[in-house]
Amino acid sequence: MSFPKLGILGGGQLGKMLCQAAGCWELPIYALDTSIEFPAGPYCKGFQEGSFKNYEDVVGFGRQMDILTIEIEHVNTDALRLLQSEGKTVHPDPDALDIIKDKGLQKQFYAKHKIPTSPFQLFKDKDAVLNALKEGTLSIPFVQKSRTAGYDGKGVAVIQNEEDLTTKLLAGPCMIEDLVEMDKEIAVVVARNESGEIRTFDPVEMEFNPIANLVEFLICPSTITETQAKTCTDLAKKIIAAYDICGLLAVEFFLDTKGNILVNEVAPRPHNSGHHTIDSAVTSQYEQHLRGVLNMPLGSTKMTSPSVMVNLLGADGYTGEAHYEGLKECLAIEGVKVHLYGKAITKPFRKMGHATIIADSIEAAKEKARKVQETLFIKTL
Ligand SMILES: Nc1ncnc2c1ncn2[C@@H]1O[C@H](COP(=O)(O)OP(=O)(O)OP(=O)(O)O)[C@@H](O)[C@H]1O
Ligand SMILES: [Mg+2]
Repeated sequence: MSFPKLGILGGGQLGKMLCQAAGCWELPIYALDTSIEFPAGPYCKGFQEGSFKNYEDVVGFGRQMDILTIEIEHVNTDALRLLQSEGKTVHPDPDALDIIKDKGLQKQFYAKHKIPTSPFQLFKDKDAVLNALKEGTLSIPFVQKSRTAGYDGKGVAVIQNEEDLTTKLLAGPCMIEDLVEMDKEIAVVVARNESGEIRTFDPVEMEFNPIANLVEFLICPSTITETQAKTCTDLAKKIIAAYDICGLLAVEFFLDTKGNILVNEVAPRPHNSGHHTIDSAVTSQYEQHLRGVLNMPLGSTKMTSPSVMVNLLGADGYTGEAHYEGLKECLAIEGVKVHLYGKAITKPFRKMGHATIIADSIEAAKEKARKVQETLFIKTL
C-alpha cells in the first residue's frame, strides 16, 4: 500500500514522537510550526515554517496534504473546516476541537452528555466572579480556570481564602468549579478509528510529591480497583464516541475522597500520561494515534511491563543552551529509557524530555526513578 501524506499542526515533542513512530512504516509526515529548530524538525519528511494559529498558514499547508492531525489543541479550526470541505481528512474533528479548546464549552458538553464532572459556573470576567461572591451565588473555596489557552497548570487558580481573591484571581472569561477533595488523579488514553474500533490503554496514576505538590511520577498500572478502572475506561470510550474523534483522546479523571469519579478535561492528541507506552506497551500511543487517523486497525494496548514515567524538566536557575548532566550514569541503570526532545534552550521547569523506568514492580521502578531524579540535571554549561 502507499501511504497518504500526513500533516501535523505543531512541531513540538509530541510531533517528534509521532514522526519517530511513523518512521517504522516509512509513513511520510510533514509538520507546520514556527521554527524548523523545534523537536519535530529533524524527524519529519518536510517542515513548513508558519503558525498553526494562522488561517492562511494552515490552509496553505493543509492543501498539500491528504490527512491532517494535530499535536496541540490551539490551532486554527476555521482553516481545518475549509480543508475538510475541500475533501481533506481532518482528525480530530475541528468542531470537537472547538469545544475542547474552551474549558467552559467542555464542561457544558459533559453536562449535556451526562458525563460526571464537578459542578461549575461560567463568568465573563473577574468582576462577575466578585459580584457572584457578593451575591452569595458563589463561595470560597473554588477553582478558577481560564476558558482558553491554559496549559500545564497555567490558567488554573485555586482560591482557598479572601487573600487568594486579591492575589490569585485570573482575568478574562473563566470557568469556576468546586474544589475537589482529591484522592487520586488518573488518566486514560483511548483511541478510535473511522471504522468505529475503540481501544483504551491501562489507566495511569499521577503521583504527587507531597512537599512540592507537583506531579512526580506517572505510574502504570495504577492503584485503583478493577471496578474503578472499568468506570474510567468505559467513560473514556463514551467520551471519544460522543466527540466523534478519531485518533487519540486522553481523558483526565479526579477520584475524590467520597469515591466519586469525575472527568476533569480531555486532550485529543498524544498526551503526557501516555509517554510510557513507547517502552511498556505493545503499541505506543504515537503509533496508535497514527493508526486512528489513518483508519488502520488499532494496535494492542497490552502493557508489557510495569512502568514509572518522570518528566525531565529544566533545572531551576538555568536558562540557555541545554546541557545534560548525569545522562551516562542514568543510562547505566537497567530499565531506564531516556527520551530527550532536542529543545536547544533550557528554562526552569521546561519539559526537556522524559524517562520511563520499566521494572518488575512499581516499587522497584520508583526507586530507580528517584535515582534518575537525583542524577540527571538539565542545566547550561
Ligand atoms: N476542581 C479541582 N479541584 C482540585 N484540584 C484541581 C481542580 N481542577 C484542577 N485541579 C488541579 O490542577 C491540575 C491542573 O488542572 P487542569 O488539568 O484543569 O489544568 P491544565 O492547565 O490543563 O493542566 P495540564 O496541562 O497539566 O493538564 C489538576 O491536575 C489538579 O491537580
Ligand atoms: Mg490537565
